[in-house]
Amino acid sequence: MCGIVGYTGQKQAYPILIDGLKKLEYRGYDSAGVALHLGNHLAVYKKQGKVAALEAYAGDHPVAATTGIGHTRWATHGEPSDRNAHPHYSASGEIAMIHNGIIENYAQLKDELTGKGYVFNSDTDSEVLLNFIEDIKRNNECSLEEAVRVALKRVTGAYVILLIDTEYPDTIIAARKGSPLVIGVGKGEHFLGSDASPMLAYTKEVVYINDYELAIVRPDELILKNLGNERITPFVQKLDLELAAIEKGNFEHFMLKEIYEQPKTILDSLRGRLNAERGYITLSGLDRIEDKLRNAHRIVIVACGTSWHAGLIGEYLIEELCRLNVEVEYASEFRYRNPIISSQDVIIAISQSGETADTLVALENAKKQGATIFGIVNVVGSSIARITDAGAYTHAGPEIGVASTKAFTAQVAVLQLFALKLAQMRGTIDDTLFQHLLHELEAIPAKVEWILNNQVEAIQAIAHAYRDADNFLYLGRGYNFPIALEGALKLKEITYIHAEGYPAAEMKHGPIALVDEELPVVFVATKDVYHEKIVSNIQEINARKGNVVAVVSEGDETVNDLAKAVMVVPQAHEIVAPLLSVVPLQLLAYYIGVERGLDVDKPRNLAKSVTVE
Ligand code: AGP
Repeated sequence: MCGIVGYTGQKQAYPILIDGLKKLEYRGYDSAGVALHLGNHLAVYKKQGKVAALEAYAGDHPVAATTGIGHTRWATHGEPSDRNAHPHYSASGEIAMIHNGIIENYAQLKDELTGKGYVFNSDTDSEVLLNFIEDIKRNNECSLEEAVRVALKRVTGAYVILLIDTEYPDTIIAARKGSPLVIGVGKGEHFLGSDASPMLAYTKEVVYINDYELAIVRPDELILKNLGNERITPFVQKLDLELAAIEKGNFEHFMLKEIYEQPKTILDSLRGRLNAERGYITLSGLDRIEDKLRNAHRIVIVACGTSWHAGLIGEYLIEELCRLNVEVEYASEFRYRNPIISSQDVIIAISQSGETADTLVALENAKKQGATIFGIVNVVGSSIARITDAGAYTHAGPEIGVASTKAFTAQVAVLQLFALKLAQMRGTIDDTLFQHLLHELEAIPAKVEWILNNQVEAIQAIAHAYRDADNFLYLGRGYNFPIALEGALKLKEITYIHAEGYPAAEMKHGPIALVDEELPVVFVATKDVYHEKIVSNIQEINARKGNVVAVVSEGDETVNDLAKAVMVVPQAHEIVAPLLSVVPLQLLAYYIGVERGLDVDKPRNLAKSVTVE
């Protein structure tokens, strides 16, 4: 989940690399560095911290070069520091390399190399792989490309590596397994990146590199090969993305921009799929696996983090509307728990980035056991999108803020469409309710707009009041339980305040012991079948002098009178209400993060796409 970038062409590489690293910084910001081919030698400049620190340092050094590679790091092996920053030099100083991923057998390789007298300047697995490659190049007297191919056959783990070598002034060698790599094709130049954002300003022609592929990249040439040294014809695709989509515009932070984009992004996720007026849903991906879904014994939803919370809402929706068993699995546990999977199973994979390693590997396993995979993914062309049997993109556009917001509501909107369409196919929903819910869903974007236009000041006041809290409790019932979990996760990610989400009724079985005058308790209490129950839960907290803050439906005086503060959302059917009740919780986390002076777009220790297990 580091960010990698590369350039070879006629232009000055350094400014392109720095700009690219800034666009990829959401992938990791523990350190940054570049390596430039200065003609007769390689220059490596690297610094702990953000890209700005690198710029300040490199600015005083020679950077005139037309070939180079750059890296922004999310530390796995070796703490954030200058010495563990990438790029690394090989022992001879002749090769420089950057790496995104984890080399699982690096300790064994390191022992072998140490036995041969190699000395390491960092604690990283990456430097070990680099010296392993150099050792093969030296002993086999072969080309860098050949040495990389031989070395990768002995490596276990995940990697994207980019290498430059003193011997080849305009050549970048790249290889991929498990981590994402995109190559941009220009006129007399090529760009490399973890995603397309570093090249968007220069080209819309891209090649997505697959696992076990190796690329030899020169200004006028892109050669693709597999590890068996067989040539592969690059499949050039056109990007459907504008630069503005990955810029902040007038917003102070990407997170706030993305929260405010939700009326449009929810509409985009429904566009061409929902027609409430004529009473139908079109979801071509679902049609493609109709037979599998009709005969499915169960649906297993696999995801991580916020996407897992969307999956929980998917469970409630599909069980209620389609009368089909659903299990929601943390991908990392599902991957190693050796679950019972059969060809009768349909797996729904939910992922914003489409690159989350835990989810990707869990799917590869399920696929091997014959399951059908349906993907709900945001990043077009991503690895998860490419291995699914069918799917639906969420069309939320690039999500740069590390804390997921607009992707979550787009995922939930697509799950709504999926459940309604499948229920209609299975005949488990009466047409009156079906038509009613189509109109409820169609009305959501305007209702989110209403929250953004009418509730921000109230939410800012609540954020100010609780900015110094040490703990928070989030409670909800039914469809609002996953929203309570999501609210708690947003707060943890953005403010570093400890927070827990719980089913409101579960509170009496332990967490209520946490309640005192200091503890803010956020109830997701929009009007639904559980409303009376949640009112009792609020009274139980009030009885212990807790600070109740509640998300309520417009006109709900009962909870309004019981709570210290409320965040109001328009009335909506309980099945679509999660798309509304999450928005105030996103804003609450954002404004508390801002009040605490934190970098809400790049929270500490996090990265946008977790591409290592
Ligand atoms: C959410 O705000 C976090 N960024 C994180 O939990 C994220 O949802 C998780 O890593 C899954 O990512 P994905 O949707 O890209 O697979």
